[in-house]
Amino acid sequence: MKKIKPSINFAGILNPGMRVFDVIMRTEYGTSYNSYVVKGAEKTAIIEASHRSFSRLYGEGLEEALEGRTPDYLILNHVEPDHSGSVACLLERYPNLQVLASQAAAIYLKNIVNREDFKPSIVRDGDSLDLGGKTLQFISAPFLHWPDSIFSYLPEEKTVFSCDFLGAHYCEPGVLDREILYAPEYFAALKYYYDCIFGPFAPYVRAGLQKLKALDFDTVCTSHGPVLTKDGALGRVLELYESWSAEKQAGPARIPIFYCSAYGNTKSLAQAVREGVLGAIPDAEVPLYNIIEHDLNALAEEMNGSDAFLIGSPTINREAVPPAWQLLSLADAINIQKRPVALFGSFGWSGEAVPHLSERLQSLKCAVFEQQLKVCFVPTQGDLAAARAFGEAFAKGI
Ligand code: FEO
Repeated sequence: MKKIKPSINFAGILNPGMRVFDVIMRTEYGTSYNSYVVKGAEKTAIIEASHRSFSRLYGEGLEEALEGRTPDYLILNHVEPDHSGSVACLLERYPNLQVLASQAAAIYLKNIVNREDFKPSIVRDGDSLDLGGKTLQFISAPFLHWPDSIFSYLPEEKTVFSCDFLGAHYCEPGVLDREILYAPEYFAALKYYYDCIFGPFAPYVRAGLQKLKALDFDTVCTSHGPVLTKDGALGRVLELYESWSAEKQAGPARIPIFYCSAYGNTKSLAQAVREGVLGAIPDAEVPLYNIIEHDLNALAEEMNGSDAFLIGSPTINREAVPPAWQLLSLADAINIQKRPVALFGSFGWSGEAVPHLSERLQSLKCAVFEQQLKVCFVPTQGDLAAARAFGEAFAKGI
């Protein structure tokens, strides 16, 4: 059991062996499911629970962190199952435990706990909970990263419980940031976590940072990764969130072209399309990416942060090739709407890749260029001229 502050104990689970989180995130440094016990003179609160698969282990650590007390409250800053999966077990262990969450969270929670008698208490922005000499204050933090997210703030200990905000899938035995042994790896995990979890919600991140600025705090108890402290990484992490969430500065249009190419034909088209785009917008930044030669997450960041983009894929077995689909699977569905996009590709027999990718981008509500560039096998000089015209026409419409 780790003491974070005189009235705050760490009760979380360390999971250093995890390598994939929620199916989609790689977690090469493991993760932790952070949970905290807050002790007032009269009442005791748990903040955040744990993943269901760790319920027994979590229960044992929690007992230790409670130091003989019976908890009165469980506060869930949001209800994603990595934090709420063990709530049903906690309710069996502590039948009088009162669960507190935001209104949106309460709706989801009923479908996670699945008990007829389950009645969570709703906390609203500005509400507080007196534990006896220690008062938890609740601050709405919508879309950080779920609609139901809140921060909990304990002013007497200058501590914010920030939910996933400022967290990272990163695990070291020390729990506190001052004990991190592999700082570059931690900051890489922090960035990856930000990109995956908070990247789509930059305006809400800025709003969350503003709310934190209004508080007097020196410690942030996140839900994953190290506890952040003023003497450790807290200042740097806040700076990084400021810069990552900053509004994009005006500059040259960035129009990346992503392609796959089995025999160099789609690659030739990509190069010609690029010439056409630059013919229309000479100062545009138009990087060409052969998808299989780059880190997919880096490409996704490029795609999601672009002003417009193009994807080229050959057709194999009546379909676009998997790397093209894998890239699109990482599209930021929230912010990519209305983004100008265009499709092209060489094909042999039939040529379904371009229309199939087009359908997917239309379902994402992108502004899909009405022209589709499809060329059978090796592009002729005429085809390449058509590709340049295609790129130019697309760029002129951005
Ligand atoms: Fe760590 Fe959004 O759950």
